[in-house]
Amino acid sequence: MVFGQVLNLNANLNHKARERTMDWSLQNIPADQPTPSIIVSTEIAEQNVKRMQDYCNIRGLKLRPHTKTHKSLWAAQLQMKAGAVGLTVAKVGEAEVMSQVCRDIFIAYPAIGQHRMSRLMALAKNVDVSVGIDSVAAAEQIQSAAELEGVKIGVLVDIDVGFHRTGIHDASKAIEVAKYVASQSHLTLRGVMCFPGHILPNADDQAWESYERSLSDIIRTLQQKGISVDIVSGGSTPTAMESHRNRVLNEIRPGTYIYNDLNEVRLGVCGFEHVAARVLATVVSKPEPNKVVVDAGSKTLSSDRNAALPDSGFGYLPDYPDAKVVRLSEEHGEILFSDIDTNSGRVPEVGDRIWLIPNHICVCINLQNQFYLHDGHSLSALPVDARGLLV
Ligand SMILES: Cc1ncc(COP(=O)(O)O)c(C=O)c1O
Repeated sequence: MVFGQVLNLNANLNHKARERTMDWSLQNIPADQPTPSIIVSTEIAEQNVKRMQDYCNIRGLKLRPHTKTHKSLWAAQLQMKAGAVGLTVAKVGEAEVMSQVCRDIFIAYPAIGQHRMSRLMALAKNVDVSVGIDSVAAAEQIQSAAELEGVKIGVLVDIDVGFHRTGIHDASKAIEVAKYVASQSHLTLRGVMCFPGHILPNADDQAWESYERSLSDIIRTLQQKGISVDIVSGGSTPTAMESHRNRVLNEIRPGTYIYNDLNEVRLGVCGFEHVAARVLATVVSKPEPNKVVVDAGSKTLSSDRNAALPDSGFGYLPDYPDAKVVRLSEEHGEILFSDIDTNSGRVPEVGDRIWLIPNHICVCINLQNQFYLHDGHSLSALPVDARGLLV
């Protein structure tokens, strides 16, 4: 690639100058807005979706967003309209919900077990479904159920590229599973998937080379055996917009990018201006001049620590950058303020409302029945359609 092309790509991806800034003023929030609640800036979410889709378009990658972050039909439709080729889910229940707006769904999870089979097969009668698996045992189970129901299920073989969760790291085992799938009457081998959760922003070339090699060796061997690998699916939010550094990927599945959170900010993936979702909470007690208790506890913010700074507390107060959410009970969030805030009388009073940016938005969303879209002026409630669907 020549230097001029690089500049051109960067110019295309530099939306910042064109992006307006969301007005998060608390005066814009009606006094009777329930708290704790999750409020999503329509504008920032739309910008995040567009930025990722533009990146994929420019780099020739297909985007199949992971919907576990938002669990929302509104958000899924936004992603599909922007140009996503399909949607990713973790669970069959989520796939059932997302099938209302998408005909091509990838369950990036070993969706096995008797309790899942009948629902998976029913789904496959209506939409194109693929599943990510890493064993012959899983393939056998899905093949038997699919044969019985007379449906076809797509399969992506899950390769461990270094995150060491699910996935096969031994090339010969990956080939055994892929060959088995390819030989089955009711399974279609679509390709391979991986989750590069261990690769963080600023990862060096060596990490990216190793990521690419762990896939390319397996793909080459499969192709030599006459087994075609159409989809090579990777991508997390931290790696998403660097996916071109792994030249074998042709599809990516970031999820968190639509809303972003404190994890992504502190990992250096995005800025606070790209965080679309905030928690609105009310101060319900002020036991000390420098301490308040809000109505958002672990049942709102989750107990997840920050991935980059585990001791930094359970969220971030954008209007009080030096404050710390020090402890959570289920319904209480305890916040300590700095001496500067305390001495200057800035600490909120009982009844005041505050914004919080959670460490990990995906878990928080799943704790709410609804979220509120904020268009800069007014709020509208939407359901978290796939909330709690863990099967
Ligand atoms: C299999 C799989 N794919 C994609 C993603 C999306 O990654 P992120 O949350 O970084 O956007 C996840 C996240 O957990 C995942 O587990």
